[in-house]
Amino acid sequence: MRTTTLAINLDLPGPTISRHLYGHFAEHLGACIYGGFWVGEDADVPHTRGIRSDVVAALRELDVPNLRWPGGCFADEYHWRDGVGPRAGRPTMVNTHWGDVVEDNAFGTHEFLDLCAQLDAEPYICGNVGSGTVQEMADWVEYLTRGGTSPMAELRRSHGREEPWRVRFWGIGNESWGCGGNMRAEYYADLARQYATYCRNHDGNVLYRIAGGANSDDYHWTETLMKTLGDLGCGCNARGHFDAISLHHYTVVGDWQHKGSATEFSAEEYWTCLARAAGIEDLLRRHGAIMDVYDPDRRIGLVLDEWGTWHDVEPGTNPGFLYQQNTLRDALVASVHFDSFHRHADRLAMANIAQTVNVLQAMLLTTPDAVVRTPTFHVFAMNRGHHDAAALAVHPLGGPLASREVDGRTLPLLSASASVKDGRALVSLSNLDPDAEQTVELDLRGGSVQAAEGTVLAAASAAAHNTVDDPDAVRPVAVDVDWREDGVRITLPPHSFATVTLTLAGS
Ligand code: AHR
Repeated sequence: MRTTTLAINLDLPGPTISRHLYGHFAEHLGACIYGGFWVGEDADVPHTRGIRSDVVAALRELDVPNLRWPGGCFADEYHWRDGVGPRAGRPTMVNTHWGDVVEDNAFGTHEFLDLCAQLDAEPYICGNVGSGTVQEMADWVEYLTRGGTSPMAELRRSHGREEPWRVRFWGIGNESWGCGGNMRAEYYADLARQYATYCRNHDGNVLYRIAGGANSDDYHWTETLMKTLGDLGCGCNARGHFDAISLHHYTVVGDWQHKGSATEFSAEEYWTCLARAAGIEDLLRRHGAIMDVYDPDRRIGLVLDEWGTWHDVEPGTNPGFLYQQNTLRDALVASVHFDSFHRHADRLAMANIAQTVNVLQAMLLTTPDAVVRTPTFHVFAMNRGHHDAAALAVHPLGGPLASREVDGRTLPLLSASASVKDGRALVSLSNLDPDAEQTVELDLRGGSVQAAEGTVLAAASAAAHNTVDDPDAVRPVAVDVDWREDGVRITLPPHSFATVTLTLAGS
């Protein structure tokens, strides 16, 4: 059996891993909002003011730090005024991006802010640049965040909400290079300056403005934004400044026409999926390197506000609803991403997996009566200890990690990251080898271990997944770890994810 030794210096804390790297995304798409979160006030399903109680309860297990809404592509055809005021009087619209279905605007601004309150998550609102106006976005900010007397504050009050909300995170459009307007980087960058100027800070609500960023390896887009917004990216809260630029990257196994099944995949497709997921490291490094040129002090954050697997939809479901199953392979895609996120914690300010419920790489799959936690959900749960912890570097000893050449990339068979907070260290380990166990020795320096606990997420097949009939086919279980003051030994099953929590002396 292969044994890999990893050295970790417990007394050399690196940058803080923002809890916002564990953010989420909910779009008006398929059954994410309607059916997933929102069932309406007359539903038989238990709910609080129309929001599903079982979904909220499950997500609260993840300490969701933020929720991005209303899109996605939907954001750039969403007009917020259609979603406020008495529900019976709200106009309808056609959701042209997703299934061409009629949207009745039952779930709007107040419902979203209520959902965030129920989840105890910060709202992240993406404004409409593609088909909206500067005035419309400025009014939405005022509606949400202004106390005192103003036209929008009065409108909000007339809809039953006296106090303003606190909404920090504000996206200036979505995928403006594509569904958000098919713009060129140069055009969008100027437009973003204009929009950001009129998105004001009201009553101490200091906006964190996020410019719509690149698609995957479109480095020209990032360079153009940094060049054009750079003088506004001072982080000093000057009028119209930018705090961050975004990036979107999905893990697609085949091509966009034939992405491949979520649950039925060959060994080759398994490897391709993991190798492409590991490619996030290169993207974060390269986009970060461009940002470093214009912002060497790293005051502008990179926000990966859409990431995750994008497979073919489940057979028989609406192609426009992006409903896919979620296997142990998807869980490993998530764990590999998180290891990269932790390594880039000094630049990466936020990340939002797409999407929270019933869409793409979801945390939860629902039926009217049941909520199924996916394997990806369990990775988020097992990694909770990394929220706001200090990243620790992980060094392989005895040469490079064993690896495999896939799709033109070298994929290490072990992925790992670690952090420390409040006298506890958390080590995340993914054995990507589908055919063999792997023993990992942690060589711990600069601290003394007093206790160690292991948890493993594994199954007989990488295609294992949870269903209503078998909701715990893939679930975390406690595992024995051998530990001493300066080391830990754990054996990882094939294609598995594990965490080791260390209690350190002096804690
Ligand atoms: O998450 C699904 C879609 O993917 C989003 O609406 C869009 O931003 C991206 O292309």
